Amino acid sequence: MAQLMGRKIVVVGGSSGIGLGVAAAALERGAELVIVGRSQEKLLRAQRDLGGNGRVSTVTADMTREGEISAAFAGIGAFDHLVSTAGNPPPGDPIGETNADEVRRFIDDKLVGAVLVAKHAVRTLKRGGSMTFTSGINKDRPPVPGGAVVSAIAGSFSYFARALALELAPSRVNIVSPGWVDTPMFDELVGEAKAGYFEAMAARLPIGRIAAPADVAPAYIYAMENEFMTGETIHIDGGQRLI
Ligand SMILES: NC(=O)c1ccc[n+]([C@@H]2O[C@H](COP(=O)([O-])OP(=O)(O)OC[C@H]3O[C@@H](n4cnc5c(N)ncnc54)[C@H](OP(=O)(O)O)[C@@H]3O)[C@@H](O)[C@H]2O)c1
Repeated sequence: MAQLMGRKIVVVGGSSGIGLGVAAAALERGAELVIVGRSQEKLLRAQRDLGGNGRVSTVTADMTREGEISAAFAGIGAFDHLVSTAGNPPPGDPIGETNADEVRRFIDDKLVGAVLVAKHAVRTLKRGGSMTFTSGINKDRPPVPGGAVVSAIAGSFSYFARALALELAPSRVNIVSPGWVDTPMFDELVGEAKAGYFEAMAARLPIGRIAAPADVAPAYIYAMENEFMTGETIHIDGGQRLI
């Protein structure tokens, strides 16, 4: 297992939710962090909350804008591991009411964003390093109705990683697929209904509660540290795929 002590890790989406949890867990293991997101305000708040005695730096960039993400990685320079948790709430309309512009925006945001991150990260990723992207439970337990688009896009990430793992070898590429996690994205998605959703899901989950970012962060740490794993999807969902 590769230790993360002293390693430079870039977390795209590291200013909030799951990415912030990954940044905190990597910091505890002695890594140096670069967190990337669109909002400078969120990044600075995350940097302050993480602490880390100068081991956390911030880069403002939108991963869907190629010029911005290219400049971001050029500025970051050589690094050991990439994690991307960046994403926004998916569309959820039943298929008969699908808005094509919203679907294109979501694909651009989630999938094209990840492709651009990989394209520009690979230029300075150290040989033998790793990339870990994020899919999610919606590919296995899609919301009904309205889950077809998010399920298709989330599901595509496993195949993205398998092909990229071959192309970028000996660097490694993996996916983490979380179940429901209590993050600001969930607040944005369901607002005040969140408590009710969480209570009902917690009662059904084998683990009996909803994850915090700290519960899923170890899956990303494992993907970075385990030097024999590539092209894989790690599910960390409290048993949500079983119910
Ligand atoms: N929360 C869950 O229950 C759950 C479950 C399964 C899968 N997921 C997936 O996990 C990922 C992270 O979710 P989360 O709950 O941690 O969300 P979150 O708390 O809203 O965090 C999203 C992060 O991504 C950044 N971001 C969004 N769009 C970006 C862009 N175009 N370029 C650069 N950074 C961008 C955000 O910062 P800025 O807004 O400042 O850019 C923020 O740091 C998402 O892809 C989501 O679909 C979440």
